[in-house]
Amino acid sequence: MGAGPGDPELLTVKGYLALKGADVVFFDDLVSPEILDLLPERARCIYVGKPYQSAGVSQADIITQLIAAARGGHRVVRLKGGDPMVFGRSGEELEGLRAAGVAVDVIPGITAATGAAASTGITLTHRDYAAQVSFVTAAKRDGGLAEVRGLAGKGRTLVIYMGIARADALRDALQADGVAPSWPIAIVENATRANERVIITTVAGLADAVTRNVVRSPALFIVGEVVKTYSPAAISAEEVHHG
Ligand SMILES: C[S@@+](CC[C@H](N)C(=O)[O-])C[C@H]1O[C@@H](n2cnc3c(N)ncnc32)[C@H](O)[C@@H]1O
Repeated sequence: MGAGPGDPELLTVKGYLALKGADVVFFDDLVSPEILDLLPERARCIYVGKPYQSAGVSQADIITQLIAAARGGHRVVRLKGGDPMVFGRSGEELEGLRAAGVAVDVIPGITAATGAAASTGITLTHRDYAAQVSFVTAAKRDGGLAEVRGLAGKGRTLVIYMGIARADALRDALQADGVAPSWPIAIVENATRANERVIITTVAGLADAVTRNVVRSPALFIVGEVVKTYSPAAISAEEVHHG
């Protein structure tokens, strides 16, 4: 199930009920402490995260543990940040569980991009600026940089997940694709959480803004004219930086 981007009130009702009925919960790094606080006392919580840029528990090991817990007759929740079907490795886990004959339901969550859109007021498809939106991960399985060609520019919004370690390569790739150096970008760190931070920058300024503001995971980049719709009214002035 998806835990959403952090704010516990963004859980689905279905997800909340699943947590309350869980015997065993396997969770990742991006699941916020406030959500883990909702678990019933009897639930066994098992951390199977992969801390940012490190290996952590292997995917094969996670699948083995999930199968063993389910076969033990427990109600098992596999809790992932955001939506489990968006950059969440759910494919491998679903295949492994189904091959082992374990019944699985998927409970969606609010993905980081739409959580960030709500908390910043940046309307991803504002009709004045964009008729399409793409979600891309900067970290491909083979370690290469994701393809951003054709995804940013006039009329298009691009949301980049897992991009902070590749901000310089992303800046170069966007510029090589003809995106103007002054094209706007919002960096949203800890979207929907109490410590959310928003940095407004440009394609040319992206890497410097990440370094200067010491942006940390989890953070994403919203690239496009829709950044003009940013409305920081909901957060205090100290949390807003222009860089
Ligand atoms: C492995 S992906 C998981 C995405 C998740 N399944 C989703 O749907 O949001 C992790 C990346 O999601 C983004 N992310 C997740 N939660 C976030 C948050 N609260 N604020 C900003 N970015 C977030 C970051 O780019 C982070 O590196």
